[in-house]
Amino acid sequence: MPTAMHLIMLALVGLTNGHANNSYENVLESILNELEGGLELHLTKPSDFDHSLVQFILRQWSCTLTISSTETMSSEEDDIFRHHFMLFEDVNEMSEYLPHLKNLGGFYILALVHTPQDMAKLFKFTADVWLHHGHSRIYYIQLDMDRILVYNPFKTSLEFVNDATTYKHIYGNLNGHPLRVYTFDSVYSLVFGDGATKKVLRVTGADAKLAEEVAKVLNFTQHFLWPDDEFFGGRTPNGSYSGGVGRAHRGEVDIIFSGFFIKDYLTTQIQFSSAVYMDDLCLYVQKAKRIPQSILPLFAVHEDVWLCFLLVGLIGAFIWLCLRGLNLGLHIERIADGSNEKEYPGFYSLAMRIFIDTWVVWVRVNVGRFPPFNSERMFLVSLCLVSVIFGALLESSLATVYIRPLYYKDTNTLAELDATQLPIYIKHPAFKDDLFYGHDSAVYRRLDSKMTLVAEGEERLISMISKLGRFAGVTRSASLELNDIRYVMTKKVHKIPECPKNYYIAYVLPRPSPYLDGINGVILRILAAGLMDLWTGEMKERARWSIHRFPEYLAELNVGSWKVLTLTDVQLAFYALGIGCLLAAAVWLLEMCWKNK
Ligand SMILES: *[C@@H]1O[C@H](CO)[C@@H](O)[C@H](O)[C@H]1NC(C)=O
Ligand SMILES: *[C@@H]1O[C@H](CO)[C@@H](O)[C@H](O)[C@H]1NC(C)=O
Ligand SMILES: *[C@@H]1O[C@H](CO)[C@@H](O)[C@H](O)[C@H]1NC(C)=O
Repeated sequence: MPTAMHLIMLALVGLTNGHANNSYENVLESILNELEGGLELHLTKPSDFDHSLVQFILRQWSCTLTISSTETMSSEEDDIFRHHFMLFEDVNEMSEYLPHLKNLGGFYILALVHTPQDMAKLFKFTADVWLHHGHSRIYYIQLDMDRILVYNPFKTSLEFVNDATTYKHIYGNLNGHPLRVYTFDSVYSLVFGDGATKKVLRVTGADAKLAEEVAKVLNFTQHFLWPDDEFFGGRTPNGSYSGGVGRAHRGEVDIIFSGFFIKDYLTTQIQFSSAVYMDDLCLYVQKAKRIPQSILPLFAVHEDVWLCFLLVGLIGAFIWLCLRGLNLGLHIERIADGSNEKEYPGFYSLAMRIFIDTWVVWVRVNVGRFPPFNSERMFLVSLCLVSVIFGALLESSLATVYIRPLYYKDTNTLAELDATQLPIYIKHPAFKDDLFYGHDSAVYRRLDSKMTLVAEGEERLISMISKLGRFAGVTRSASLELNDIRYVMTKKVHKIPECPKNYYIAYVLPRPSPYLDGINGVILRILAAGLMDLWTGEMKERARWSIHRFPEYLAELNVGSWKVLTLTDVQLAFYALGIGCLLAAAVWLLEMCWKNK
């Protein structure tokens, strides 16, 4: 294939031609290759275009370039050209530019034609940028010294850039730099603090363990902020932001190590780390009432078993009747059993006799006389077998319901919840926006209109639901397995298994944040090692154990004690006997009247 070979050769020639050969240009090329998003060249003088460095950058085809001849920056929304290149004569000219520098998350490449003899001026400029803007994503090219420098704020020094990874290395070791970490009481994090001095003493939970690991790997110290009452927070009606979202929005924290749902918080000033786990947003209601002991046996098996029991009794009688009809009609020989029963009783009394006998066998009582035909006896044997199976089923179910209490039917779907007409009380305003909103199902729309925001006072919503149960609540599925597990284990509340929303959960950082990549790297390694599953699983296990600290729950659970049947457990039998006696008395009275007449 000579043509293909030609093409490859041409491509290779093109590559080598474009290649730089100066040492710093090699480094610059690899840096430009790494940059995501376009590069904006700010050229103020026409002569700048002829500069060899500018020509070199223009030859780079790996990134999008735009050239602006003014000193003004592109607007903040214009994220595509987020990196900037500028050419300065010396440090003095660069210093004048300091107020125009913006920290939008991109890199600056500042080239100096004449390097000052004293590095002190350059160093002061680099330190000032860090102090003013909190960012050090600036490469300084010293053209006459053939080198690229970058400021390391954690060692307060200028470092030589040897390849594109130098910057990543700097943010891989923060050298004990304090980061403002915000953690509040949430599903997987718990804060212990001193209310008087407003100092956080320690944090626990899976989130805190992860934060500790991240701090260890990146070598920063955690400076905990005192939590406010609005934990997650969000946009308030007057346009300000409250809670954790507000702090990140205003850049008052470096990272929030409490899990947030990844969703729109109506601000572009925050960003999420890699997702750490998932969780459902679920509704819960009061657990259905227990079925009273008096009628418990009736609920021991499903209704269709009872129905089948009745039907088999009737059908059995019918089949026996048919068999008798055939036997008599075809004059099959009777088995002599010594009785001198009338050969042909009337049809009505025969049917009655067979009906009663069928039911006698069906409820496993001895039949008084065996039928006089072999075929009918075979039939009776099979009926007996079926009756044994039914009886065993009923008896074992009865034993089970006495040990494990039965409840009336719980609400198990959102449609059933909608039918109960219960209002839904929520405590976070964010639930209102995204639980049922914007769904085209009629059930969701009706449920959405039933939501009411209430302030959680002294008594928590879940405890009110467990006692009164006149409304439904919304919570994270994991909190029913952790803090609130006792309500579930003691069968006070019931989680509706059909959960309307499922979210990825991540930590929140302000945007832009130089720490994002480093933190994400550590988080992903922790996730890949399965440590997060271990820590969250451990918390859930501990929550299950903690139930043993509450004697009142233990008593309700009846753990460790055998079920002793008492008179109340067998009350249905006496009710049946009572009803039977009453019926007998009524029939006896009727017969008396009949006779007297
Ligand atoms: C680039 O520099 C190397 C030595 O570092 C040299 O061998 C090579 O010929 C140079 N290439 C070009 C295109 O100048
Ligand atoms: C971490 O930071 C401390 C300063 O707080 C420093 O002494 C130590 O050498 C750093 N560790 C590493 C591995 O660089
Ligand atoms: C906005 O409302 C919050 C309470 O919802 C209040 O704390 C804050 O001061 C208000 N901000 C402005 C600018 O009015």
